[in-house]
Amino acid sequence: MSLATNIQTDGDRLWQTLDEMAAIGPGVAGGNNRQTLTDADGEGRYLLKRWCERAGLSMGLDTMGNMFFRREGTEPDLEPVYMGSHLDTQPTGGRYDGVLGVLGGLEVMRTLNDLDIRTRRPIVLVNWTNEEGTRFAPAMLASGVFAGVHEEDWAKARVDREGKSFGSELRRIGWEGDERVGARPIHAMFELHIEQGPILEDEGVDIGVVTHGQGLWWLEVTLNGRESHTGSTPMPKRRNAGLGLARVTELVHETAMAHQPDAVGAIGHVEVYPNSRNIIPGRVVFTIDIRSPDKTVLDAMRERIERGIAEIAADLQLEFGVEPVGHFDPVTFDATCISAVRSAAEHLGLSHRDIVSGAGHDACWINRVAPTSMIFCPCEGGLSHNEAERITKPWAKAGADVLLQAVVETAEI
Ligand code: GLV
Ligand code: MN
Ligand code: MN
Ligand code: MN
Repeated sequence: MSLATNIQTDGDRLWQTLDEMAAIGPGVAGGNNRQTLTDADGEGRYLLKRWCERAGLSMGLDTMGNMFFRREGTEPDLEPVYMGSHLDTQPTGGRYDGVLGVLGGLEVMRTLNDLDIRTRRPIVLVNWTNEEGTRFAPAMLASGVFAGVHEEDWAKARVDREGKSFGSELRRIGWEGDERVGARPIHAMFELHIEQGPILEDEGVDIGVVTHGQGLWWLEVTLNGRESHTGSTPMPKRRNAGLGLARVTELVHETAMAHQPDAVGAIGHVEVYPNSRNIIPGRVVFTIDIRSPDKTVLDAMRERIERGIAEIAADLQLEFGVEPVGHFDPVTFDATCISAVRSAAEHLGLSHRDIVSGAGHDACWINRVAPTSMIFCPCEGGLSHNEAERITKPWAKAGADVLLQAVVETAEI
């Protein structure tokens, strides 16, 4: 079929739904703290399930806690079209990162119901477990298991900083299903997401047609020196792990700066021991996050940083360890799905441009097992992973409208 239909989502209803979800796991500054597999995550899942049941969708739940809500097609044996994202947030997360893609998908389902539109293919809305990876590294954990990138047993044994495992926390909140992970055929998947960067807003463009995603390495680094008195230890005799952290921070920044505009890098989580005013730090543990859309650059950065850490450690008489805890190569999304998104934006008269995703998304893994692409809408000031993350109602509606068009075109009326 062609895009002959003039169907549109209900922007007010979508906005109201986003507000209701944001009330669960409120943050301290107007955003959300609904980290994966916490009680708040469980509560958010119940709310989504209630909404989906009211919309007449049937739920499937796999053993990684991925939630699937199906709207039947007129030809139920055809492979379904998927749409969705994640409901989990950063500890100081915004209200839209991930959530827009799930609730935008719910709005698509509701709109199809209102207009009594039947598609040939079934449509499935999905909430992937643990996209953020803050509590259990790596990010996109359950979509990674779905796509066959990680072993399920390995994923379930991932522990948070309190030593609690993914598997036990999933059972504790009551969201471990019995469906085998990854057994579902997918005709195509679309993920709506906020851009999390400034390009669309700066250029006054409504829709980002996501063609690629940049790759990533996450490294966990430990530097061991010696705790000693800050007053009486002579400067030349210090083995200061804190100084090592400072030098590695600079190294990561400079390495990314050397590859502009194709690289980013930062240290995000830091633990300093014993963290006392008058003790020279004897041990630091910290995380490095480096990303690039170019695999050669990404791998060269990792090599440069690992070499640099060894040099810094030798210079400061520190012992060191570097453990990779997350990785994916740059992604090229599916050409047919990309053009479905572009045509949808054109059909709706929305301005659009091609864009590369700076962030990681479940779509990056699903793209390995099914044709996949993404739709971006702008966010204010490009700010995300911050409680002050904001979008506007028209931006959200435009994104949901493009999702609706792309999904209906792919699922066929
Ligand atoms: C997770 O949100 C990531 O992109 O790092
Ligand atoms: Mn996200
Ligand atoms: Mn995120
Ligand atoms: Mn992400």
